[in-house]
Amino acid sequence: MSTTKKVALITGANKGIGFETAKTLLEKGYIVILGVRDEKKGQHAVHQLQNVNARYVVIDVTDEKSISLAEQYIHDNFGKLDVLVNNAGIWIDFGVPMLEVSIKDIETTLKVNTVGVIAVIKEFIPLLKKSESGNIINVSSGLASLNQNSDPTYEYYDYKSLAYSTSKSALNMVTILFSYELKAANIKVNAADPGYCATDLNGKTGPRTPQQGSKIIVKLATLPSNGPTGGFFDENDKIEW
Ligand SMILES: NC(=O)c1ccc[n+]([C@@H]2O[C@H](COP(=O)([O-])OP(=O)(O)OC[C@H]3O[C@@H](n4cnc5c(N)ncnc54)[C@H](OP(=O)(O)O)[C@@H]3O)[C@@H](O)[C@H]2O)c1
Repeated sequence: MSTTKKVALITGANKGIGFETAKTLLEKGYIVILGVRDEKKGQHAVHQLQNVNARYVVIDVTDEKSISLAEQYIHDNFGKLDVLVNNAGIWIDFGVPMLEVSIKDIETTLKVNTVGVIAVIKEFIPLLKKSESGNIINVSSGLASLNQNSDPTYEYYDYKSLAYSTSKSALNMVTILFSYELKAANIKVNAADPGYCATDLNGKTGPRTPQQGSKIIVKLATLPSNGPTGGFFDENDKIEW
């Protein structure tokens, strides 16, 4: 089956910034498939959205089988994917002094925030190639920026998260590499910094709302065919790697 509507998959979309991104893309007429870790979360999120174009699929980005089943579902029901938002993420060393972060927590973080994104992109490339103009958005963070983290005047200079920032800096490189690889297929790959938003990720400590955080993701998800690729953006502009 195929559709003339644009189809978007957002991982980790049952709450927070991913959920707000889903809401706005639905308002823009997209079919939005919310990636969730279990059926109940999916049913609840779709019910809240009250939109016939909202669907959900179970996808745990650390589980290759679930990624493959999610791809199968989108292949069978929509035949293509126009937008992939790699939003699922964890920050288990939030507030943990750097030298107290365990190796296990670093590995777990890399598995979700970096390796999981690579696994999802690889699985969905054939469906993204069926789009006239695909957009992949990797949800990164200002805390991933090497430039900002080396600048003592950076607002969050003292937020040194060994696991989280390392995983997101690596995700930035993943963004650059896939943007190169997928250029010929007209698939743009960009990294987004939503800013510090109040979500479960950080015990709701951020000064911004998840809705504000979703703005740059929506902007990159709806880029035209000739839009930029291989960049790192916040809602104002391009930011430094
Ligand atoms: N909030 C901020 O200030 C901020 C700033 C910069 C970047 N970000 C990034 O924004 C993205 C969204 O975060 P958020 O702030 O909206 O946090 P959130 O509310 O905690 O949402 C995180 C989402 O990721 C999902 N998730 C976690 N592990 C997963 C896995 N293994 N497979 C699939 N899904 C998984 C969660 O599912 P469950 O509900 O099942 O746990 C949840 O849906 C993250 O990548 C985060 O790093 C956030």
